Amino acid sequence: MDKTQWYKLEDVEQLSAQEKIRLTQKYVNCGMVNLFGLLGFDKAWASSAEGMYITLSDGRRILDMSGGNGVLGLGHNHPRILAARSKINNEKRLELCKAFISPYVAALAANMANLLPGDLEYSFFCNSGAEAIEGALKLAEKHHGSNRLGLVYTDQSFHGKSHAAMSVSSLDDSRKNFKLLEQCYQVPYGDAGALEQLFIQHCQRGDGRPDLCAFLVEAIHGTRIIFPPEGYLRKVRELCTRYDVLLIVDEIYTGFGHTGYWFAFQAEGIVPDIVCYSKTFGGGKASIAGYTTRTPVFLKAYGNTGEALMHSSTFSGMSEECATAIEALNIFKDENLIDRARDLGEYLGQQLRNLQTKYPDRIIDVRGRGLLWGVELKPPMEQVEQLVSRILPDKSSILPALAGVMVLAELFHKHNILAYLGFTRRNLVVFSPSLIVDKKELDQAVGALDAILSLGWLSLGSSFIARKVLK
Ligand SMILES: Cc1ncc(COP(=O)(O)O)c(C=O)c1O
Repeated sequence: MDKTQWYKLEDVEQLSAQEKIRLTQKYVNCGMVNLFGLLGFDKAWASSAEGMYITLSDGRRILDMSGGNGVLGLGHNHPRILAARSKINNEKRLELCKAFISPYVAALAANMANLLPGDLEYSFFCNSGAEAIEGALKLAEKHHGSNRLGLVYTDQSFHGKSHAAMSVSSLDDSRKNFKLLEQCYQVPYGDAGALEQLFIQHCQRGDGRPDLCAFLVEAIHGTRIIFPPEGYLRKVRELCTRYDVLLIVDEIYTGFGHTGYWFAFQAEGIVPDIVCYSKTFGGGKASIAGYTTRTPVFLKAYGNTGEALMHSSTFSGMSEECATAIEALNIFKDENLIDRARDLGEYLGQQLRNLQTKYPDRIIDVRGRGLLWGVELKPPMEQVEQLVSRILPDKSSILPALAGVMVLAELFHKHNILAYLGFTRRNLVVFSPSLIVDKKELDQAVGALDAILSLGWLSLGSSFIARKVLK
């Protein structure tokens, strides 16, 4: 084992492609390198990124239509975000406010209260989506007490990979390998009647309230772009109020304008009890997440001085992270990005629907809202599967995803466009660009998809294989 090599920051930029792969295989995750290899992404090295574009080390400019899976609402390295971070650093601000009250946390929480409807006013900031979900679930448990610990979630859910988040994430197949929380109950997404039935079944205690503390749901299932029926959230809100169960809405993926609203739940005009958010909240630079809850919920759970630090974490409220989020929210407001997402989103949706009309045998569905759109592909013909499966080491990992994987690879290698695939629904090609995208870039992406679909699966399969063989 070679432990002699020690890297300085300057060395990192000089690493050869081979060395980067070797180090990742040996010290990070060997299977992950293989997955990158399937798409040929192990041959592309990003050297810098700005706005809508990633520049590769070979000089190619990639139009990033992935929006960093929800993180890059403001694009890569937004100049105002960079300036905000530099300001904090140049002024040598206190980063870790543990002995002092943080003005950055205070102002960010006030802004979130301003932005969110009703009495959603108390915020807790942390560093990842799963952590925000953990915090929200704990808050609900504490609020309702130990007789009402049950959690309800849906059959179309992904809320993160920590133990608690995974326990309420039906789509995460890997959870069968791990110990899950008890008293977690699944209901069908979009079915308010089923939720009410579950609430009724759990009302055994005689006071008309179920032994459940919270229902956790996404307003739109962002990672697969699945919409509940119109009115679902309003009905759910009404049920949660009637049965005194806290309604937690996960806006980690859909928050901050991606769907043409600050938060996707606002399309139904409801006020949840707790809202979780992350991703774009950090302006593409800060790893910051959080939840905001209604005043009475917070005060009942953690309002007493003795309970004030019952939920906390070391890196909660780092100044640079909070300052970045404050600036991100201001950019959204100053640049009117929510309206922009709504307008451009309508245009993108129309262009994609035109493609569906043009290729009814290749596209099953086109759906989205704002600047979050998915194109669901019909799985390719059997012959293509047979052809491609011959050269794949692990067929089971790719065959169900073949249509999406081939299109994604072609978009990237031939058209210099980065998109991504739906979570566990790999035949869903997702365009979720930053909100700074322009019409020309949307046209470029749709045009590329048009060109690819016009080729047909056999031709796509051949270039996919050629790329693997010529590796
Ligand atoms: C809807 C939703 N909730 C929670 C999470 C978990 O966030 P994180 O990966 O930051 O833990 C994700 C991540 O993609 C998500 O899409």
